[in-house]
Amino acid sequence: MLPVVGAFRPWADATQTAIGRLPMTTRGLDPTDTRLDGAWRFRLFERPDEISDDAVVGSAAGDEWMTVEVPGNWSLQEGVGDTPHYTNVEMPFEGPPPTLPERNATGVYRRAFSAPRRAPGDRVLLSVGGADSVHIVYVNGEFIGYGTDARLESVYDVSHAIRDGENDLAIVVVRFSAHSHVEDQDGWWMAGLHRPVGLMVRPPSSLTDVRLGADWDPSAERGSLSVRAEVSLEALDEGWSVRASLTDGAGVSVADAMSSVDVGHTDTYRFTGFAAEIDSGDLGVEPWSAESPVLYRCRIELLNPEGVVVDSTSQRVGFRRVEVVGPDLLVNGRRVWIHGVNRHDHHPERGAAVSVADMRADLMQMRRHNITAVRTSHYPNRPEFLDLCDELGFYVVDEANIESHAHNWHVCDMPEYREAWVERVARMVQRDRNHPSVIMWSLGNESGYGANHDAAAGWVRRADPSRPLHYEDAIRTQGWIDGGRHATHVVCPMYPTVPEVADYGRAVAEGRADRPFIMCEYSHAMGNANGSLADYWDVIHAWPGLQGGFIWEWKDHGVRHPEAGDDRLHYGGMFGESPHDGNFIADGLVSADLEPHPGLAEVAWVYRDVATRVEGDRVVVENRRSFAGLGDLRARWTMTARDTVTSGDLDVGEVPPGQSREVPLPVNVPVDRLGVFTVSWETREDSWFAPAGHVVAWDQHVADLSLADDPATVGSAPVTSTASGVVAGPDPQLWRAAVDNDGFKLMLERAARESKGSQRLHRWLSQGIPTSEPSQLIGYQRETVGDIERHVFDVPASLEGLPRVGVRYVIDPRFTRMRWFGRGPGENYPDRNRGAMVGIWESGIDQLPYLIPQEYGLRTDTRWAELHDPDTGDRIRVEALDQPFSFSAIRHTAEDLYDATHAADLRENPCLILSLDAAHRGLGNGACGPDVDARYEIQPGRHTLVYRVTTRRAADRR
Ligand code: GAL
Ligand code: MG
Repeated sequence: MLPVVGAFRPWADATQTAIGRLPMTTRGLDPTDTRLDGAWRFRLFERPDEISDDAVVGSAAGDEWMTVEVPGNWSLQEGVGDTPHYTNVEMPFEGPPPTLPERNATGVYRRAFSAPRRAPGDRVLLSVGGADSVHIVYVNGEFIGYGTDARLESVYDVSHAIRDGENDLAIVVVRFSAHSHVEDQDGWWMAGLHRPVGLMVRPPSSLTDVRLGADWDPSAERGSLSVRAEVSLEALDEGWSVRASLTDGAGVSVADAMSSVDVGHTDTYRFTGFAAEIDSGDLGVEPWSAESPVLYRCRIELLNPEGVVVDSTSQRVGFRRVEVVGPDLLVNGRRVWIHGVNRHDHHPERGAAVSVADMRADLMQMRRHNITAVRTSHYPNRPEFLDLCDELGFYVVDEANIESHAHNWHVCDMPEYREAWVERVARMVQRDRNHPSVIMWSLGNESGYGANHDAAAGWVRRADPSRPLHYEDAIRTQGWIDGGRHATHVVCPMYPTVPEVADYGRAVAEGRADRPFIMCEYSHAMGNANGSLADYWDVIHAWPGLQGGFIWEWKDHGVRHPEAGDDRLHYGGMFGESPHDGNFIADGLVSADLEPHPGLAEVAWVYRDVATRVEGDRVVVENRRSFAGLGDLRARWTMTARDTVTSGDLDVGEVPPGQSREVPLPVNVPVDRLGVFTVSWETREDSWFAPAGHVVAWDQHVADLSLADDPATVGSAPVTSTASGVVAGPDPQLWRAAVDNDGFKLMLERAARESKGSQRLHRWLSQGIPTSEPSQLIGYQRETVGDIERHVFDVPASLEGLPRVGVRYVIDPRFTRMRWFGRGPGENYPDRNRGAMVGIWESGIDQLPYLIPQEYGLRTDTRWAELHDPDTGDRIRVEALDQPFSFSAIRHTAEDLYDATHAADLRENPCLILSLDAAHRGLGNGACGPDVDARYEIQPGRHTLVYRVTTRRAADRR
């Protein structure tokens, strides 16, 4: 039994949130502190009750001990034998809170450390950065404390237990606890010490906490700084003081002030704590915003009565004001667009143990795609994440580590969990309050709405009135217009439809709604997804009160396991775990390895902060930034009309933030000659996220593609034989390998039973779409006249909403390059193609970009497409003769893609599959949200596909 706590079993008791833990402060582990990261001795037990006394003290050298890395999730480490488990809503074991599973893997971490250098009277604090789920600390066999909340550090005073020379540290980590029921986020259940562990040495009299209030008054254009330094004094003598010195980025002094620590008011009824308060008055400083993240540094020193500095700390400062005024969330008095994503801490090999470099890489990839806001779904990240956001310029919704999704309706009202609620929220605020990037506090995710929320909200309202509250379930359960006001200042729903978003904007316009609308989650990026993203933003830009939202989600959570025998990324169920939610965990804009999925290009376009449109003979430039002009960008225009290309710089002068400017259209755009006028904005200088010349925004004015003829047709010969490259086809085709938004092919039965996700796939299966001969389902006629192909498809009303209507060719694989005139360069779909430019593009053959094989590679609005054999120079060319078509040329048939359950299992077809579609269904958001909008559904009735197909043999040219 574990010494001291074994009989109490705090891990099974929800009311026990901590034993011996110090209050959270803004002073965490800093780079100069002693880190205890690296190799630790480790031993796994089946349950906490099985741990013997000697496991936490004495030798850890025997064979039963192994070595693991800290920080790390043991669930992903070799030799441990306790693997990850993925569930979305369900708990991974049965029973209501606070039930625990029969087997409850418990790890004992051990390591020796030498006592840090310290003076007599100094205190030594141990910081445990993050332990999933709860942990118990022993130093030299002595019980130190117990802590909960897997996503915040726990700090203990270990001074009394430390001896000179070698010391022994044991941290027992229990995988499931009563607190697991409030850590039921959608993700892998993993365990271990996944954040750094370290020691901090503090003098006997020290600064325990430093709270900064860095305000910016937008009307006076002045900043001000209030400092409250909490101190702990060895003796209550007079004469202690605190000095705060503010310097700018160049180290130049901006302000300096001192205040004494009042110790005279410790009498009964008058005690107000030991602290010094300093108010700077007006400061001539620059404001902080995500657009211009200007930071200052405040050094705070504690001086003893002799005037000697005995302790000091330094904190970064950004001056800014966040407020909700009417239906607007304002930063420094201005509305800002929330171009956001939800981000989890995730690494494919290290799980939740992300490094600072990993977090920076995420932010860089985001910023390259115009993402400037992050919701820390669904827990506080490492403190360095907020340092990066302060420095690089991101708005952050900081979310408390609370989710009781499986028992949503009740845990939030259970008194035994009240402490957990208040503490998780309060400790996040206590840690993160000095970060300018944090613009809202989120009370957690998907936990219903109950008294525990109001208790936590009440604490924050008093402790930090400088930031609005955010909580989705408060408005979900009580209504968008007037619900949940105590727990949220913003209306922050998940996965509303476009019309619902517009309705809220209309309510604001009509004075019926008065809170800002910022979607905490929307545009579920699972597989080939993000349909209608641009439609959301058309509405957001059109109505008051709508400010944007956070796409779900940034990254897939695929993981590799060292014992898997291969390096494939795992999703739910691949560890043999049950119950599980399969590939619902692969729903990111980027892969687990940070490779952009094609939808990210659409995000970059939709989130651009300069928009350009042609109105008559004018070009209108709209600066969507809130604070900055466009001086850092260069605008270039290009006009292509058939074979002529003209280009130049577009000089619009300064466009103030939030305003538009007009300049004359520099060139005539001929509608009859396939005119395409493009304006692109690129950076003038290198930045932290991209070299100079990085395109941040573009818009096009395109002539009607269906009208145009095309002159690029050179001498061609009709397709006659297989020698031309066509192996088979054209054959009619109605099936596309269902995308995740069509339905969950890996969880078919469950999805049907629980009506999860879109039910479209079920309908297609019952209609026999994947298996039947298309000509038995619809009317189909083909007519070939010379090199002209005409296909007529008559879709009966009963088959409304098909995957696609078109034909397929099988092509000789020697054709390895494609060239086309239409939307590109990446794949695009009818409801995800506004971020795909019209142009002449050239590329190799696409690779499947998704973890789960599904439809990919389409290019919409195509006038012509060619396949090239680079060795012989042979070419196959298809030219639209009526409407532009959509096409893809990939190495898989729809059947191959649909049958495979993992990208690694997908075999390449020996041939190239060329699909030409008269119509192709949109992508929608059906995996978690509204299905394809009606205008992107394939309607019943007649569809035609008319094109000329020609080949050119290199020999013909000579
Ligand atoms: C939301 C939830 C997220 C995630 C998402 C679906 O309901 O907040 O954590 O589960 O749905 O991927
Ligand atoms: Mg959930």
